[in-house]
Amino acid sequence: MIIGDTVRLRGIEKEDLPLFVNWLNDPDVRRYLSLYSPLSNAQEEKWFEDLASHCLAEQPLMIETLDEGTWRPLGNISFLNVDQQSRNAELGIFIGEKGFWGKGIGTKAIALMLDYGFKTLNLHRIYLRVFHPNQRGIHCYEKLGFKHEGNMREAYYLDGEYIDVLFMSILRQEWRGKN
Ligand SMILES: CC(C)(COP(=O)(O)OP(=O)(O)OC[C@H]1O[C@@H](n2cnc3c(N)ncnc32)[C@H](O)[C@@H]1OP(=O)(O)O)[C@@H](O)C(=O)NCCC(=O)NCCS
Repeated sequence: MIIGDTVRLRGIEKEDLPLFVNWLNDPDVRRYLSLYSPLSNAQEEKWFEDLASHCLAEQPLMIETLDEGTWRPLGNISFLNVDQQSRNAELGIFIGEKGFWGKGIGTKAIALMLDYGFKTLNLHRIYLRVFHPNQRGIHCYEKLGFKHEGNMREAYYLDGEYIDVLFMSILRQEWRGKN
């Protein structure tokens, strides 16, 4: 477990899967996640079974926050596409409980993940892709020190229009355990 003051990251259990199905079938939650079709329990169970073949660094983690004295599961954070030779990894995150957006939880969860990525996994560069309309996400990543790297113009079709996909990244020397 990766433990912060009011946010912690833990492994995902089979019992968590119904939460994921609920969260990822919410159009507001999945809008900026490249997920566009309804998700079934069977698909989610298959996703969970397939995790056994992922390396340890790519195991997704449950984001939990301290809510009235108990740890409440809220969403998911993970490294993807970990490149062992170049020490690069992509970051993915969603908070499935909409009522907890904009309260600093994403920032705290990513800060824990950056510590884990740079100090434990010995990564050199952590990057992410974010849709241009996702200004909440972009602001969160900028706050943490992610830099804008580039823009894939009109690379994704969302809600009837083509939108840009931004690349952002942070290097190990730029991360000093802020937040
Ligand atoms: C993106 C996400 C992980 C961010 O986590 P969060 O806990 O909501 O973000 P935080 O509260 O830590 O930071 C968001 C910042 O953006 C600001 N913000 C909120 N809405 C905004 C908007 N429409 N435009 C600009 N900034 C906005 C907040 O005020 C906050 O900044 P502040 O701390 O300076 O006030 C979360 O909102 C989420 O999971 N969204 C749905 C799925 C998703 O978009 N995943 C990421 C795909 S790349």
